[in-house]
Amino acid sequence: MDAIVLLKDDHKTVEKLFKEFEQAGETAYKKKQEIVEKISKELCEHAYIEEAIFYPEARAEAPDTSDHVLESVEEHHVVAWLLSELKGMDPKDERFDAKVTVLIENVRHHIKEEEEDWFPQVREALGRNRLQELGERMEKAKSEAPSDPLALASARQ
Ligand SMILES: [Fe+2]
Ligand SMILES: [Fe+2]
Repeated sequence: MDAIVLLKDDHKTVEKLFKEFEQAGETAYKKKQEIVEKISKELCEHAYIEEAIFYPEARAEAPDTSDHVLESVEEHHVVAWLLSELKGMDPKDERFDAKVTVLIENVRHHIKEEEEDWFPQVREALGRNRLQELGERMEKAKSEAPSDPLALASARQ
């Protein structure tokens, strides 16, 4: 699978979970907690394959976009810490929904920038075959992703 197609599919998956969270009832605590666990798993896998494979490759092949990559890593950093805070949080805590809302806002902004401003330049620089090969590696690497968001490289930088 093409690396960029794979990443966009992941983005769609998390967007679906975000909508589910937003539509869950105020007091649907168990459901909201389960959705947040799913979001965490998806985002850990996604951030992992981006940080381990896609970002370094894109930066090497499209050096003009280095600033974008650096900014993206900072955004992953913030998201990783929010996810780790949510892990230990009671969904009945008055700050739970607020924290998830900020997480969602951050990720939506991040996805928009990746898809609109950056991916087209990376596609141009890497070309079809290279993206295909990267996509295959990334698909396999998902199983190596950490379940602890703070184990992501971006969280430790
Ligand atoms: Fe990203
Ligand atoms: Fe992404």
